[in-house]
Amino acid sequence: MTTMPDGSVALGIDIGGTGIKGGLVDVPAGTLLGDRHYIPTPQPPMPEAIAEAVRQMRDHFAVPSATPVGIAFPAIVRHGVVRNATNIDPSWIGINAETLFAEALGGPVTVLNDADAAGLAEMERGAGRDAEGVTLVVTLGTGIGSALFLDGRLLPNTEFGHLSINGIDCCPWASAAARVREGLSWAQWISRLQDYLSHAEFLMWPDLIIIGGGISHDAEQFLPLLQLDAAVVRATLENDAGIIGAACEASALYERA
Ligand code: BGC
Repeated sequence: MTTMPDGSVALGIDIGGTGIKGGLVDVPAGTLLGDRHYIPTPQPPMPEAIAEAVRQMRDHFAVPSATPVGIAFPAIVRHGVVRNATNIDPSWIGINAETLFAEALGGPVTVLNDADAAGLAEMERGAGRDAEGVTLVVTLGTGIGSALFLDGRLLPNTEFGHLSINGIDCCPWASAAARVREGLSWAQWISRLQDYLSHAEFLMWPDLIIIGGGISHDAEQFLPLLQLDAAVVRATLENDAGIIGAACEASALYERA
């Protein structure tokens, strides 16, 4: 990678509970430039270990240190600081992830919640393009992430994946990982997903619900069976949404600076 950084190319990194995915993003097009790279999430997922994996990711793509880097992180990230830790080590709470990663990379880094990153990409370039009114993006993976938009504008760090039903936190109960972990049939899992989405719909009354995360590959297994008032569609950027959204956000902040 020899081009000089001008914000039109950014590196997006999506940190998940099991894997860290990265890719170079053509920001104006909102598409990946070439292949993604995958690094298993270090276990335990402590700050220094993840920072080292992020550095390896940057080295893999050999981008100049001034290239904008956006990181999608699986927790609340308010002004760079991690505020909860469901799918990540609790030692992250209170850490300024932007400072930690910027020190590891020697250049500016933007860190945002993973569902917010995926949602931004879907709203700009995917299933939510042109969506008006209230849109709820739900990512189903190791946990459940949420991103809420009004006329395309994000309300950051909503944690609607953690809505509770009868005292049960929906995040581990209805996530895609729950289906595999608990050996649920599709019918059993869809019933949980229906309960979760019905509850979310009752509280937010979105016009559109976009279902993202790796499970959106299998959308035909469950989307037609869901009974909701809102239109429900699958995310079109699938597993690349977090990478693309984080990279585009980093590039936008770079250009504004
Ligand atoms: C976290 C969210 C995150 C979601 C998906 C939840 O456990 O609380 O912040 O967006 O998992 O990774």
